[in-house]
Order: sequence, then C-alpha cells, then structure tokens
Amino acid sequence: AASSTVRIVEVGPRDGLQNEASVVTPSQRIALIEALVSSGLETVEAGSFVSPKWVPQMAGSGDVLRGLPPRPGISYPVLVPNLRGLEDAMAAGAREIALFLAASESFSRKNINCSIDESFERVAPVVQMAKANGIAVRGYVSCVLGCPYEGEVALASVVSVAERLIELGCYEISLGDTIGVGTPGKARAMVECVSGSIPTKNLAIHFHDTYGQALANVLACLETGIAVVDSAAGGLGGCPYAAGASGNLATEDLLYMLDGLGIATGVDLERLLDAVTYIADDLRIAPRSKLFAARRSD
Ligand code: HMG
Ligand code: MG
Repeated sequence: AASSTVRIVEVGPRDGLQNEASVVTPSQRIALIEALVSSGLETVEAGSFVSPKWVPQMAGSGDVLRGLPPRPGISYPVLVPNLRGLEDAMAAGAREIALFLAASESFSRKNINCSIDESFERVAPVVQMAKANGIAVRGYVSCVLGCPYEGEVALASVVSVAERLIELGCYEISLGDTIGVGTPGKARAMVECVSGSIPTKNLAIHFHDTYGQALANVLACLETGIAVVDSAAGGLGGCPYAAGASGNLATEDLLYMLDGLGIATGVDLERLLDAVTYIADDLRIAPRSKLFAARRSD
C-alpha cells in the first residue's frame, strides 16, 4: 500500500544545474538551496565533487557547502566519484555523500570512465573512509530502465548493482531512470524486482521526464510502498553523459500531486514556488514544470 508520507530528495542544485549552459555561481547556488530549505525540504543535494573538466557546472561545490549554515535535521548530500572527491567534500564539511554507479557497462564508461566492477573497486575505500568519519552514504544506480548507449538494461544488473551498494554500506539506493524512457508498468516491475532483495524502505526513485512519464512512474511506484522520491525544482536537469536526456521530475509538480493525494511531505507549495521563481528571475533559467507555467499564465 502507498505510504502516507513521502520524503522528497531535492536534487535541483546538483542534477538540475549540472547540465545547464549558463554558469550559476556558488553564491547563487547557496541562495537557491536556502530558498529550497525554506520551503520545508530537508534533503537538498548541494553539488558534486567530480572533475571540473568533466562537469564544469559543479566547480566550486566546496564553496557551496562551506556557505551553508549547518541546521539540525537538514542534510546536504554531495556526489563523490572517488577518494579525491571524498577528501575535498570532507574538507568542505560534508556530512553525507552519494555514490553514483550504473547498471549499464557503456554508461559507466561514458560517465565515470570505468567498468561497473572497477567502479566498485573505486568506491569501496570511499565508503570505508566515509563511515570511519561518520558520513552517511547514499547510492545511485543509473540506467535502471534503459541506457542511452545499450538500450534495454537487464533487471538482473539493476538488482545486482543495488545489492552490492547496500552490502558496501549505503543506507538508501536511488533508482535512476537517467534518460526518462520508463513507463509506469515497467517502473513498478523494476521496483518490485529490486524490493525482492532490498527492503522498500531503503529504496528511492529518481525519474527524468524526457517522455513525460516521470509523474506517472512515481504514482505507480508509490503503490509498491516506495516513500522516498527524488525531484528537481523547476524540472531542470539531465546528465551531460546521457545525450537526449531531459530534466528531472519537477519538485512542484510532484508536490502538487502528493498534496492532492493527501500524502504528507512537510514541504509548502507556495514557498517552493518562491524558489522556482528565483530560478526563473534571478538565474534566468526557464522552469519546465506544468505548475510554474500554470501560475505564470494566471
Ligand atoms: P578520469 O579521467 O578517468 O580520472 O575521470 P583520473 O583519475 O584519470 O583524473 C582525471 C583528471 O580529473 C585529473 O586531473 C584528476 O586530478 C581530476 P588532470 O590531471 O587531468 O588535471 N580528478 C578530479 N578533480 C576533482 N575532483 C575529483 C577528481 N577526480 C579526478 N573527484 C572521474 C574519472 C570520475 C573523475 C570523471 O569521470 C568524472 O568526474 N565524472 C563525473 C561525471 C558526472 O558527474 N556525471 C553526472 C553525475 S551522474 C548523474 O547525473 C546520474 C544521477 O543523477 C542518477 C540518474 O539520473 O541516473 C546521479
Ligand atoms: Mg539524474
């Protein structure tokens, strides 16, 4: 049965901005994160400690973390690909990191320049060092419903990568439809399959909206008991190494649906729209949500 509460993991300041052509400075990213936190969001991904040659948009993530006042109950996870990334994240005060691996070999090579097995060798010492320092570790699995290079991805590979991340010590696995090709039946079946070996409470869903299926996919997965959903304010986002992938599910569209279903999130829609307005008016990036379009045409 569907959970009566959902925790929204806001990925806008990371996934939302990592693929944008316009440069968003660390101080603008801090202002955006502050606005998102003001709406009631308790988990806001704040950046990535990856190579700035690979993803220039996330340069300065250390300055972003250092500029955020610590608040009880609020967490600012950051993406970390290797030990170098963890060291830099820790130096900036990170308390939570996210690893990002893939269920597809080709995507793994394009995105992080190594095979799936090599990516586990890379992240094993990262988890060890994070744990030794009391840092929480989340894990992403990309390409769970399709790969931009291989097409179909075997469910067995999704399950195996998710299981290995849990065994390593991730407290939660976010299942990513990186290119937004999934449809509700397939999304639900994928989650049910992973739930066969990992408790549903340790799973999150992360849908990109390339084909307009993200919200429908969330609804289908909520029926399995999933209670953690990733989304990005304004519906921004995409992965630079997944050609054709469009933005994430917009947090405001997700919230509108959850509010309508009577599912509690602790997030205030009007305050969230203030953050989306900041994206539109100050960052000059056009939001891609239905809700923003509806409100602007009022
Ligand atoms: P590489 O070239 O194989 O690694 O890249 P390397 O160790 O040979 O290093 C190359 C250069 O990068 C060196 O610099 C290193 O110092 C530097 P150079 O000598 O050329 O001047 N370097 C770093 N710099 C800063 N921070 C670091 C770091 N590590 C190395 N941590 C690497 C391997 C993983 C670094 C590279 O492939 C990379 O940065 N990839 C990032 C890709 C990325 O961020 N993709 C987007 C996030 S994933 C996503 O969006 C999907 C998700 O949303 C879920 C979904 O939707 O499915 C999470
Ligand atoms: Mg993503």
